Parts: sequence; C-alpha cells; structure tokens
Amino acid sequence: MASKHIGDKTVCVTGGSGFIGAWIVRLLLDRGYTVHATVKNLYDENETKHLQDLEEHKSQRLRLFQIDLLDYDSIVKTITGVTGVFHLASPCTVDKVHDPEEVLGPAIKGTNNVLVAAKELGVKCVVITSSISAIVPKGGCTETYEDFFMGSVHVKDVALAHLLVYENPSATGRHLCVEAISHYGDFAAKVAELYPEHQFPSIPRDTQPGLLRSKEGAKKLMDLGLQFTSMEQIIKDSVESLKGKGFLS
Ligand SMILES: NC(=O)c1ccc[n+]([C@@H]2O[C@H](COP(=O)([O-])OP(=O)(O)OC[C@H]3O[C@@H](n4cnc5c(N)ncnc54)[C@H](OP(=O)(O)O)[C@@H]3O)[C@@H](O)[C@H]2O)c1
Repeated sequence: MASKHIGDKTVCVTGGSGFIGAWIVRLLLDRGYTVHATVKNLYDENETKHLQDLEEHKSQRLRLFQIDLLDYDSIVKTITGVTGVFHLASPCTVDKVHDPEEVLGPAIKGTNNVLVAAKELGVKCVVITSSISAIVPKGGCTETYEDFFMGSVHVKDVALAHLLVYENPSATGRHLCVEAISHYGDFAAKVAELYPEHQFPSIPRDTQPGLLRSKEGAKKLMDLGLQFTSMEQIIKDSVESLKGKGFLS
C-alpha cells in the first residue's frame, strides 16, 4: 500500500488473541502504539484474559474488538481510525477439516474484507501473515517445486519481524521468516542432542532431498536488522514452555 505513516501510532492486529497476534500486540504496546486487537468472542476469557493481563493495558492503549472475518462491517469498525493493520486472523487448526470452506472462506474472503476495508478507510500499510502451509503440496500432487522452504523460527522473532516490515519504509513485497532453511531431520537431530533423556523417533538426516540448507533464507529480514534466535535456543525455549505448562515432564 501507499507510504507508511509510523508517526501515527494507532494500529489494528486482527487475530490479536492468537499465538502470534498476542506477541505482536505486546510488542506494539511496549513501543508506545495504541492497538485495536480483535478476538472472535469478547465474552470468552480464553481469548481475552491474556490480553487484558498485559501490563500496558492499564495505560488504556489496548482496545479489544470482536470480529467475524466474514462480516465486513465488523472489520470496518476495528480498522476505523488506525494507520496500519497487521492481519493475522485466520482459522488455524490441526484437526481434520470436514468442509474445506470452513477454513478457506474466512481465510480468503476474510483477507479480502480486511484489504478492502483498509483501502476504503485510507490505511497506510497492511502487513499480512501467511503460512508455508498455504504452499505445501498436497498428497498426490504431481507438480514440481524447485524451491521449497522450511525452517523453525522463534515466535518473538516473528513478532519483531512484523514490526520491522511495518516501520521500515524500504520494506516491500514478501518476507520469509525463518531462522534458517533446514530439513526436518536437522531439527529432530538437534532436539535429540539437547534432550537425550527423552525418546525421539529416528529421522533420516536428509528428510527433504534437494532442499538446500541456508543460513540466510530470511535475508530480507536480516537486512532490516533482524537477528534470528538460534534453532538451539528455539528448542530450549519451547521445551521449557511446554514443561512450565505441564505438557512435558
Ligand atoms: N503458529 C504458526 O506456527 C504459524 C506459522 C506460519 C504462519 N502462521 C500464520 O499466522 C497467522 C496466525 O497464526 P496463529 O498461530 O497466531 O493462529 P491462532 O493462534 O490460531 O490465532 C488465529 C487468530 O485468528 C482468529 N480467527 C480465526 N478464525 C476467525 C474468524 N472466522 N473470524 C475472526 N477471527 C478469527 C482467532 O480467534 P480465536 O482466538 O477466537 O480462535 C485467533 O485470534 C495465521 O494466518 C497462520 O496461518 C502461523
């Protein structure tokens, strides 16, 4: 979209209650922004409490809005008065999807609604978050992919990446956000090395033959100043978080 206006510090985070969105909300508040964060249900504490608990909420710079991605008017309400939009709201599930439309509808029409509303309301900059899942070949797919990326990344780096591309006038186009391009096997081997006391399935080293490993897969973000957390630290933080929440002993 048109030139960025980071002087005006009111922005919207759709999906503000989500895993990545909540980290972005926190970072934005830390940096003095006023944030319109969206949730699907304002009366569901699971969606709102962690946001309301943010220390900065006391400064009245966080406002929660209820939206439905398929309801254009609800999106207009939350985007009104903001200079920038971080669009993260999207149905994310690891459960079996019975009707693809349940996911595709809000993902596609919702993104379109956000973009149209942003344009109509004169928003200066929109940062949209997608996923590698959007381009993962389905089972049975016969297309040829020359460049197929994967990698791990720390959620705090993901949040910071959003702010970097938002605040940096030179940032345009797509940005890949990974610590490095690696194989599933690299990740599994590192987990096994760090936590020998746990049992892990043995994965052959080259799980993606043809995938070129690269420490600079996210060069565009590195050029903007992002220093990625190492895979080792990502694994350690994840394991500690899982232990802290009682999912791992
Ligand atoms: N997490 C990852 O590893 C990862 C990796 C790559 C890309 N991404 C992408 O990053 C984005 C955010 O992911 P996330 O991990 O933060 O997901 P998440 O924790 O599931 O959060 C998704 C957010 O979208 C909201 N939402 C879902 N359907 C909606 C609807 N119909 N109307 C309004 N809001 C709706 C959710 O509200 P509720 O809280 O009410 O459900 C939640 O706030 C997604 O586009 C995802 O594909 C995530």
